[in-house]
Amino acid sequence: MLSKKKILITGGAGFIGSNLIDFLLDTTDHEITCIDNFDDFYDPDRKRKNIAQHFANPAFKLIEADITDQNLISLLDDQYDTIVHLAAKAGVRPSLQNPVLYQHVNVVGLQNILQIAHVKSVKQFVFASSSSVYGINQNYPWKESDTDLIPVSPYASSKIAGEWLGKTTSELYDIRFIALRFFTVYGPRQRPDLAINTFANNIIKEEPINFFGDGNTLRDYTYIWDIVQGIVAALEYEKSKFKIINLGNNHPVTLSYLVSSLEKILNRKAILNIQPQQQGDVPVTCADITKAAQLLNYKPQTKLEDGLKLFIDWLLSEKKMQDIL
Ligand SMILES: NC(=O)c1ccc[n+]([C@@H]2O[C@H](COP(=O)([O-])OP(=O)(O)OC[C@H]3O[C@@H](n4cnc5c(N)ncnc54)[C@H](O)[C@@H]3O)[C@@H](O)[C@H]2O)c1
Repeated sequence: MLSKKKILITGGAGFIGSNLIDFLLDTTDHEITCIDNFDDFYDPDRKRKNIAQHFANPAFKLIEADITDQNLISLLDDQYDTIVHLAAKAGVRPSLQNPVLYQHVNVVGLQNILQIAHVKSVKQFVFASSSSVYGINQNYPWKESDTDLIPVSPYASSKIAGEWLGKTTSELYDIRFIALRFFTVYGPRQRPDLAINTFANNIIKEEPINFFGDGNTLRDYTYIWDIVQGIVAALEYEKSKFKIINLGNNHPVTLSYLVSSLEKILNRKAILNIQPQQQGDVPVTCADITKAAQLLNYKPQTKLEDGLKLFIDWLLSEKKMQDIL
């Protein structure tokens, strides 16, 4: 059992945050404060449902607030050992439609939370960065030591900015900042805009899938349970003041393979609506996870086929459609 901590988790009602909170409340004595504004990027009721089970637990508290609000600190009456900053405008393609909003939430919002960390003397800050920072860099698998970041979306550049804000803060103050670059995370509660979720829904409803490109783009899909293990290990990491660490799976698969895996599990054929490659998309994501293994003892355990089955079980139970399999 880890020693008891007070942890502030921003974006805690979302996909990754709510899975992290489930794990922490189930397996540790930590007290969790979740900040979320239930923004309308997708159905806010979905997010309320993600955390509904925790209100009976005295170790859980929700503060419904916006990370960009400069008065946010006045709502925080506790001291915190650690902040896990997950709140963000997520998604590559929508960031091209609204780049200013993405910078505002992801950069100004992060700066606000870093300032709170400083004023409240928080010692540890874990930040959700993204594989998208590597962009169209072709030196696969991507290593954290590769400084040739070639982002191709406002979302990706907001995450690079976030890493630098964290570096500055850790230089200025006594705050350890760990940026975790997540690689396409999937599993129960996955955001509805992400491919696995939209594809599975379309296959179930026998509707066409928007299939971008020739099917050969590669993605390093990483199961939520493995990501949560990596975040939990980062809460305990103490060796240096600033680190950037990939959390991926190191087993990229093609888009075509992903669709055929979903078809097998759902026992239905997908209808493909083939579209050109989208602006902002990158051809390959592939994580080198040596550093995560060394520093966080991170070893992803979940094979894509197993993780997809767990995701589909969750999706069908949400839809009360288990009998279709
Ligand atoms: N899911 C992935 O594959 C993936 C990959 C790389 C990085 N990330 C990063 O991980 C983090 C979590 O992603 P997710 O997939 O769980 O997304 P999500 O949208 O499910 O969760 C984000 C949460 O932040 C909240 N939020 C947004 N703006 C806010 C604001 N202004 N104030 C307070 N709360 C706000 C949302 O309501 C939501 O609950 C994000 O920072 C995202 O960029 C995710």
